[in-house]
Amino acid sequence: AALLAWADVLCPTVTDRLDAALFEALPAAQQTTRLLANFGVGFNHIDLTAAHARGLRVTNTPGVLTDATAELTIAALLALARRLGEGERRVRAGRWHGWAPTQLLGQSLTGRTLGVFGFGRIGAAVARRAELGLGMRVRYLNRSPVAASVVKGLEAAPCTSLDELLAVSDVLSLHCPSTPETRGLLNAERLRQLRPGTLLVNTARGDLIDEAALATALSNGELAGAALDVHAREPVVEPALLTLENVVLLPHLGSATAATREAMGRRAALNIEAFAAGTPLPDLVRG
Ligand code: 8YV
Repeated sequence: AALLAWADVLCPTVTDRLDAALFEALPAAQQTTRLLANFGVGFNHIDLTAAHARGLRVTNTPGVLTDATAELTIAALLALARRLGEGERRVRAGRWHGWAPTQLLGQSLTGRTLGVFGFGRIGAAVARRAELGLGMRVRYLNRSPVAASVVKGLEAAPCTSLDELLAVSDVLSLHCPSTPETRGLLNAERLRQLRPGTLLVNTARGDLIDEAALATALSNGELAGAALDVHAREPVVEPALLTLENVVLLPHLGSATAATREAMGRRAALNIEAFAAGTPLPDLVRG
């Protein structure tokens, strides 16, 4: 709130909640900020309606973090399927007593079906890596039709409904934004629609999943495992998940490479320069 009354431009990150209550706490006459140049592509931490009502424009950093986030998604999936976290914990705790034929047996991904929910830049980049790199079959669901160029060279095929996607997936990976329509998407009922051996991966936003329901499904063996890079109440991680072995828990690392973070900073700077010059903002987020 203090910065809104001092700075011309703010660069918020995913951890900075800019909600209606924050704007309301500051009399409009005292607000100096006119641009929120978000450092990141997702902007669900900003109440767009409230920001626009206060004359704020919002920009983001699309495109530059696609590859890094897709790589992290594949890394998280492999870690989950091949139980890398459990193995690492075992070695470091001095609990590894030598090779054994049935030790930490995981799942092979080759030939399995990856369901991709949200087929934007990141979803498509994950699909390409999974199909061409890991030999997985890909099915996807997107809110709008996907251009032929996006799936060029891939056998990835669309599903007609969420019910179908949930039913066909051996692995389900979430790549949609957090919106009123997608929040709580994977509730207890939808989690039950997944087959018992399914692996769930989330590198999008934590609030797409009912985390307590997920912990219950994982404890009951209704789901085989989950890899979560994002959490509903970051940096708080659902306590019931912390004690489960069949969960990979990461601290929101999707775009965390040096080159990507620099590119995100440069992209935010481009928008700030355009704002200062009074020219159109390259990455204006419309409400
Ligand atoms: C960023 C992300 O690290 O861009 C996004 O939407 O989730 C992350 O890759 C984060 O948003 C930084 O603010």
